[in-house]
Amino acid sequence: MLPEVIETERLKLRPYRLEDVEDVLSYASDPEWARYLGPVPQPYTRADAEGFLANQLSQDRTKRASWAIEYAGSAVGGVNIGFDLENRVGTIGYSVARRFWGNGLATEAAGAVIETSFAAFPDLNRIQATTDEQNAGSVRVLEKLGMVREGVLRQDQYLRGRFRNTVWCGLLRCEWEARRNWT
Ligand SMILES: CC(C)(COP(=O)(O)OP(=O)(O)OC[C@H]1O[C@@H](n2cnc3c(N)ncnc32)[C@H](O)[C@@H]1OP(=O)(O)O)[C@@H](O)C(=O)NCCC(=O)NCCS
Repeated sequence: MLPEVIETERLKLRPYRLEDVEDVLSYASDPEWARYLGPVPQPYTRADAEGFLANQLSQDRTKRASWAIEYAGSAVGGVNIGFDLENRVGTIGYSVARRFWGNGLATEAAGAVIETSFAAFPDLNRIQATTDEQNAGSVRVLEKLGMVREGVLRQDQYLRGRFRNTVWCGLLRCEWEARRNWT
């Protein structure tokens, strides 16, 4: 079972709380933050933030775990991993409030979830992620995590008036372990 709280050098990854509503509303109502996130409604309302939090609190953590990224006392984003247990695959996602972009927070949070997931589930063999090809920050996060860019699905999504290409990235347990031993 994955821990509810993961501490990193600068971050506390912990379960979302209903009291995070102001923080979530503040970053998720930023259209730049939501630009590449298909399911996020725009404009984003307090009811959307409340619905998001209610959904996080009701999750079955054996199939999908999510954490708020707490930094300097506030929830500044989120990181999650969902599991396809039959195929021994995890899929991660992450976000950080725009005012904190470029400080390595997403990479630190996602790296901690990858490390913790491989440690918690000895059978887990692969962790993957997808991102819009235009989402340069996210593409770079995956690269910094050591993920292998495996392919691009061309125009597989139509979002906010344009077709998007989706980049698929994957990281095998052996690659993560080799990297850990190397760094
Ligand atoms: C994508 C996202 C999570 C990155 O968060 P972050 O905390 O800024 O990420 P990091 O600081 O760990 O790494 C970002 C990297 O991208 C780089 N980057 C950011 N914008 C860039 C751009 N337009 N072109 C090139 N590189 C860019 C940064 O310089 C940094 O790389 P570096 O450390 O080598 O300098 C953040 O932008 C975000 O939350 N976006 C909205 C939600 C989202 O799109 N989530 C991902 C869905 S797949």
